[in-house]
Amino acid sequence: TVSNTIIDVTSGWALISALSTDMRRVVRQSKFRHVFGQAVKNDQCYDDIRVSRVTWDSAFCAVNPKFVAIIIEASGGGAFLVLPLHKTGRIDKSYPTVCGHTGPVLDIDWCPHNDQVIASGSEDCSVMVWQIPENGLVTSMSEPVVVLEGHSKRVGIITWHPTARNVLLSAGCDNQIFIWNVGTGEAMITLEDMHPDVIYNVCWNRNGSLICTACKDKSIRVIDPRKEMIVAEKEKAHEGARPMRAIFLADGNVLTTGFSRMSERQLALWNIQSMDEPMTVNEMDTSNGVLLPFYDPDTNVVYLCGKGDSSIRYFEITDEAPYVHYLNTFATKEPQRGMGYMTKRGLDVNKCEIARFYKLHERKCEPIVMTVPRKSDLFQDDLYPDTAGPDPALEAEEWFEGKNGDPILISLKNGYVPGKNREFKVVKKNILDCKATKNTENSSPANKSASPTPSIKSEAKLEEILKEIKSLKDLVSSQEKRIIKLEEQMSKIAI
Ligand SMILES: *[C@@H]1O[C@H](CO)[C@@H](O)[C@H](O)[C@H]1NC(C)=O
Repeated sequence: TVSNTIIDVTSGWALISALSTDMRRVVRQSKFRHVFGQAVKNDQCYDDIRVSRVTWDSAFCAVNPKFVAIIIEASGGGAFLVLPLHKTGRIDKSYPTVCGHTGPVLDIDWCPHNDQVIASGSEDCSVMVWQIPENGLVTSMSEPVVVLEGHSKRVGIITWHPTARNVLLSAGCDNQIFIWNVGTGEAMITLEDMHPDVIYNVCWNRNGSLICTACKDKSIRVIDPRKEMIVAEKEKAHEGARPMRAIFLADGNVLTTGFSRMSERQLALWNIQSMDEPMTVNEMDTSNGVLLPFYDPDTNVVYLCGKGDSSIRYFEITDEAPYVHYLNTFATKEPQRGMGYMTKRGLDVNKCEIARFYKLHERKCEPIVMTVPRKSDLFQDDLYPDTAGPDPALEAEEWFEGKNGDPILISLKNGYVPGKNREFKVVKKNILDCKATKNTENSSPANKSASPTPSIKSEAKLEEILKEIKSLKDLVSSQEKRIIKLEEQMSKIAI
């Protein structure tokens, strides 16, 4: 019986240790396990907005630490709203818009290096770059800083280079990709003949040396844009016929969403050195909305927002199998027509906010805050590693010549405080300076030439305004002197 007991004890231990290994697998340690989502109160929403109904699967919303931009319905053209973040509540019908496109706007993207600059792509085949006034629009804006023409079909994808100033990528339904030097208005790179069908999305890697694309031909491609070369490709990354998405992760792997042959939604991870087999595939459900991925390279958390879904599902990606770890789902009742995703430096670190979404309903935009529950009021440096700041690492010319630069990181320790209008360092040389040398008067947006031509206008206007401000200042100070003098005389009389 003694030996029997020993056997029992050892098998008992074996059982316990097997269980605890299992438990460890199930309850994996993660600081993001308890992240929870919360919609803001009704009065913190942006109301009475006619969100665009155009059939195109982009996010329709772009956010930065100063503004939320939303593509809206507009009769006889294309328009989007730009609202200062604090401009919540009912948005009046007459609120100014950005309305220079002659067809619906399909995609918008804020410049990562200047919070006043936003680019838009439209059904009118053009790309436009806009400079939003410091405190938002006072009147509607129909004159872009630059018009970029070259696409022969509608332009559905716009994305700024992450680390080089003034480098903008556009992809159109002509299946072409252009990479522009926005400062000069030139298309520096054209990627033709790489995509035989509609491009679903394009994503830069962390330092902008590569892009990855998802295409209707079911291929995922990794492209070196400056060599104009496909460096990796996976056909039938997802076998279903519905749209895919592909994004780069911080470590250089590619994460994709798509559909299986049985129309199940999938999430897969790929090592671009060997794309024959995915590192992992997760099957999710059988809804039919395109899964838009939003990714935080600092925490390695990816958020999936299905278009038409009413939930946000989030996962943590680690470098140990099975790599993709489901965290949680934030669910509401109402479906999302689009989604904005706040850049990291716009978050409230004092509340342990690790992501903020701007969910588009049919007629409103509702911020959703993702928070890590922590008791301490101190800065949680484990949640906020240094993050990409607003300064570019490179000039456009350097990048086109072949240089690379990692993002210039900033600490969020004394970061953004809502209500306090945090000024970023004024960019030394902005988009307006860059074009000073090339002030052609060939500026009518209607002037559609075959070769890409910039339309450059507002510098003179800006100069005029600055002059006027200066003369007003002079006037005020001279009036002030006069008032002081008069007051002195008055006081003498009173005595
Ligand atoms: C940029 O990223 C690529 C791909 O991850 C890497 O090979 C390269 O070393 C990086 N370059 C710089 C300057 O960071």
